[in-house]
Amino acid sequence: SAAEKGGWASFMAKEISEGPEAVANTLRGRIVDNVVTIPELNGLDESVLAGIDRIIIVACGTAANAAEVGKYAIENWARIPVNVELAHEFRYRNPVINEKTLVISISQSGETMDTLMAVKYARKEGARVLSICNTQGATIPRESEAVIYTHAGPEVAVASTKAFVAQITALYLLGLHLARVRGTQTPEFIAEQLDELRSIPEKISETLENSTVIGQLAHFMTDTTSVLFLGRHVGFPIAMEGALKLKELAYIHAEGFAAGELKHGPIALIEAGQVVFVVVPSPRAHDSLHKKVVSNIQEIRARGARVIAIAEKGDAAVLPFADQVIPIPLASTFFEPLLAVVPLHIFSMELAMAKGLDVDQPRNLAKSVTVE
Ligand code: G6P
Repeated sequence: SAAEKGGWASFMAKEISEGPEAVANTLRGRIVDNVVTIPELNGLDESVLAGIDRIIIVACGTAANAAEVGKYAIENWARIPVNVELAHEFRYRNPVINEKTLVISISQSGETMDTLMAVKYARKEGARVLSICNTQGATIPRESEAVIYTHAGPEVAVASTKAFVAQITALYLLGLHLARVRGTQTPEFIAEQLDELRSIPEKISETLENSTVIGQLAHFMTDTTSVLFLGRHVGFPIAMEGALKLKELAYIHAEGFAAGELKHGPIALIEAGQVVFVVVPSPRAHDSLHKKVVSNIQEIRARGARVIAIAEKGDAAVLPFADQVIPIPLASTFFEPLLAVVPLHIFSMELAMAKGLDVDQPRNLAKSVTVE
């Protein structure tokens, strides 16, 4: 009902606007004196986590895109090999796992059948199993050894938005916890990352201020039949997420790819008028990658593509080449995804609305897929 939507046009619009609280609530009470404190880890205590030699994150859909972002950060901070696997692929390929493997499942609902079966399989094979879940008492956390709840609040719209930023937040808390337990980063470094994590809710709020401009952009694109999304490093899974949402909500063919892969295929798709979203790494945080992505923009622009760049506020190198720039606040590399995803979620929602579609209940999709 309209009252439940709190004045918003859709649950999705409401839930995107709740991104800042989703992150803040996931952090609440879990940082004590610059140390990550997660009592819910139960039996997965510091000695267990210190002895893990590999992590596999299993998930489906948007949760799998959050997992990919987490992989970059956890491996970088805690120096443990991390792989991400779609839950439905994982258990049918006889993966090598043992008691030194930490399997982390991510699920908003905690009821996705494929993810649940991956968790059961991992436990049967002797792996340690931790779940990141947004729904208290759901099946997946009950089948896991420990659970880190994301406190994003109930998510009603079928396509996941605020849970995505909360999932990345939970993965980052875990990554920084592992970095301390395993002694791979100094307490000062960890404290700095935690400070930046705490600044994210406000920066998401700032990002949300671009909603109207993004809505206008989307309203002129209702005839678009294909959109590409390009990103690099942690911007790559964000490009994947942008493409997933556009398919789900606006029924537009969309593909996300790693910017470095451009010359290995996707550039053949570039022709006059092709819309390409580019997630641009921060020039301050990652100068060499920033240069490479800007040169990708030049390459596709030279072939007539229409480039919409998501770039750090004040990034002057992008301006001459992009048709549109959607600015995001300054953040270091690992925190940029939490901001860059917001305009992409808004864009897909606005385009779907402009096409007269039901953004909360897209055709053929279910909030929680409880069959295999
Ligand atoms: C469905 C939903 C997606 C969600 C995915 C995984 O496909 O439409 O929005 O990302 O399931 O759901 P989960 O509850 O496991 O995160």
